[in-house]
Parts: sequence; C-alpha cells; structure tokens
Amino acid sequence: MSVASTNLAILGLQWGDEGKGKVVDLLSPKFHQVVRFQGGNNAGHTVVVDGVSIALHQVPSGALHPGCFLVVGNGVVLNLEVFQQELDRLKARGFDLTGRLLLSEKAHIILPHHIALDQWREIRADKVGSKIGTTGRGIGPAYEMKAARMGVRLGDLRYPEALVDRIRPGYDEVRLRLGPDAGLPALETIIEGLLRTAEPFLKFIGDAQGHLMASWKRGESILFEGAQATLLDIDHGTYPFVTSSNCSLGGLFTGTGLPPKAVDSILGIAKAYTTRVGAGPFPAELLDATGDHLREVGREFGTTTGRPRRCGWFDAPITAHACRTNGVDGLAIMKLDVMDNMDQVGLIVGYRTGEGTLTSKLPSCAGDWKDLRAEVKYFKGWGITRGVTDRNKLPKEAQAYLDVLTQSVEVPISYLSTGPDRHEGCVYPGTLLEPLLG
Ligand code: IMP
Repeated sequence: MSVASTNLAILGLQWGDEGKGKVVDLLSPKFHQVVRFQGGNNAGHTVVVDGVSIALHQVPSGALHPGCFLVVGNGVVLNLEVFQQELDRLKARGFDLTGRLLLSEKAHIILPHHIALDQWREIRADKVGSKIGTTGRGIGPAYEMKAARMGVRLGDLRYPEALVDRIRPGYDEVRLRLGPDAGLPALETIIEGLLRTAEPFLKFIGDAQGHLMASWKRGESILFEGAQATLLDIDHGTYPFVTSSNCSLGGLFTGTGLPPKAVDSILGIAKAYTTRVGAGPFPAELLDATGDHLREVGREFGTTTGRPRRCGWFDAPITAHACRTNGVDGLAIMKLDVMDNMDQVGLIVGYRTGEGTLTSKLPSCAGDWKDLRAEVKYFKGWGITRGVTDRNKLPKEAQAYLDVLTQSVEVPISYLSTGPDRHEGCVYPGTLLEPLLG
C-alpha cells in the first residue's frame, strides 16, 4: 500500500454533506495523522471499514484505521458527552483510541447553556421568519463565547477549582437573556457534569500544535479533514446563513497552529449536484419532482439531524468560488450515479440579475441574492454510471456533463465517486490522487 509523502487538505466546496467521509476514509490509511481543525458535532460522517459502519461527529475519520493518529485541533468546539458516546461506539466495535488520540488543550468546550441559547434563538427567530436552521448543537454560542473571551478550553479542565470563575460570566449572560424560567441547569450542576464527563478525556488533552509541528518536521504525512464547507464559512459563505467557523482553508491554519507551508495540496469535494440543509440562498434549488428524485435516490437526509436536504443542480458559480477561495488543486466529484437514468440533467452556469444581465459573481450580502435567478444549461441524461471504475467506460453523455463541469470551475477531476461502496469510483490518471489511490 502506498503511503503519502505530502500533506493534504480535504475541503467541502458546497454547503456540506458532499461525501467528504468516503474520501477521507479511502485516504486516511495512507496518512500518519488525521486532523480535524474546525466545527463540532454539527458535522456528521459515517465511516465504513470491512462492512463496519459507524456514525461519527467529532472523532476524526481514520478512527477505524489503527495506523492513524487522530488529532482534534484548537479550532474545534467539542461536546464531550457526544465525544464519549462516539468513543463508546468505537470501543464496542473493537476500536480503542488510547495512545492514538490527542485533543488540543486550546479547543473549546460546548456547554449546556450554549446549546440552550442556540435552540432558544432558533425558536424565536422562527416566529419572525429569520431562522438560520442551525443544527441546535450549541455551535454558534460556543464560538461566540470563545470570541467574547468567555469560553472554556479543554486545558482549563486541569484547574477544576477555577472553572466556576471561567464559566460564570458566559453562563450569567445566557441566563439573563433566556430569563429565569428557561430551565437552565444550575451553574454548579453544569460544572459537576462537566468534570464527570471530562475525567476520561484528561489523558487525551495536550499540545496538538506542538505534536503536529513535530510530526511535520519528522516528515510524516498529515491529512486535514475539513468539516462543513466553503459556502457555510463564516466569512466566505452565504452569511448569515452559515456556520460559525472558517470551514475554508484559512480555518486550517488558525485551527491547528500550523503555517501555510505545512499543506502541500488541496482536494476539494463536491457532489455532482448540490444540496443544502437549513435556510439561506440556493439559486439552484429544485422545488419540483426532480428535486424530490435527487433527495430520494441520493438519500439526502441529514446525518446529524435527519432533516431532508434541499436539492438542486450543480452550481458552477458557487463551486468555482470555493475552488478559488481554497486554491483547490483537484476535485473529487461525488454521487454521479444518483443522476443515472434521468432524461436530462442541468448545470447552473451563472445567475440572471433582476435587470437580465448574466453574471457568475457571487453576491456578498444576503439581500443581493434575492433577485438572482439560476441560468441552467441542460444536458442529455445518461444510463448507468453506478460502479464504474474507469473514466473511459463512462457513458459519453456523462463524460460531456463532467467536461463542462470541470471547465466551469477550472479545476481538474481527480476522483469520481460512482456509488457508496469504497470500490465504486474512478481515479483519474496523472492527477492529485493517483499516487495514493491509483
Ligand atoms: P450550526 O453549524 O449548527 O450553527 O448551523 C448553521 C448552518 O450550517 C445551518 O444551515 C446548518 O444546517 C448548517 N450546517 C452545519 N453543519 C453542517 C454539516 O455538517 N452539513 C451540512 N450543513 C451543516
């Protein structure tokens, strides 16, 4: 088996759920370190090895490959209770992470009042029609507390006597906002619960930045596993309908403490069509039977919340924006087989403004999206791509579609997924992933 000699970042190019899990799972056995650097248990991925399938939210993919060392960087926010459940599930299947898991002492902890605030806000926002549709996991408030200097880091757990002073300011603010009837647990109860939950984790907490720096200097290979995706990035996504972390490349550096030189190449992941969960602009959305078809065939229901995903055609302007933002070297296009046996397939080549002008520029502000209409180019559908492992054996109609897709985002395809199984896919010769998967 070939082992990677360079460091690779894997990033989502749409609104998440692109199928990063399958690619990370394929690649992680080739890397010494697998690193999460942002997000929390809003992410969800299912890893499958030898028929064993486990849903993970915060444990880096690679958990099922005993040779991989797993790192959770400082940019992640962690729900320790959920983390424990993931470790238990892994252990029950015979995967013990002792000795190969490191959690950054600078990573922040999601606390019960963060979750309460997230859910309280969404209920209120729903009444006035400004709901974001968060996962309700307390992700936003945990990052807010971090920025407001009221967060609790994993390293703080080493000083239990100081926790009350660390947590109280944020807790008091949330209580003030939610009112006395919100049913928040008492501060003492939160601290007791935290200390109890955190105890088994103390041995895993340490200097992740130093660990990664040393690993890099030793010449070990590192796989960086992005969560969510560029269009959900707090700065470069469809703000305010985004998550609260930088899911694009910049977040990798702030979320690990490694410098840009530590990343050799960037693989962008996109589905052959587009989905998004929650509210926000989505010009490619299909609110008809075609959208329902993609949802049913693609099993487009959230891994974390079970919510049906909104579905639409591949949106070239948003994906090209994500490729540029991240400096993507190669694409993994996922789930092409979901579009098998359709009479025609569409691809969004641009947006038509209210004045009728065609543009491929993404608006920066929510208001600017309102008048944009998707400009769709249609292609003749194809028969079956499911299970194809050689790009030359793809139906010519599928090939024509992929040619236009790649031209529109100006990045070559390196891997094409044609089914959920790890063997269902094509590695493109002479591209980024060939040395690893070819
Ligand atoms: P939050 O991350 O829970 O605050 O949710 C903010 C937005 O990001 C919502 O639209 C969520 O549906 C979306 N989101 C967060 N995590 C994921 C993910 O892993 N996949 C897809 N959408 C996500």
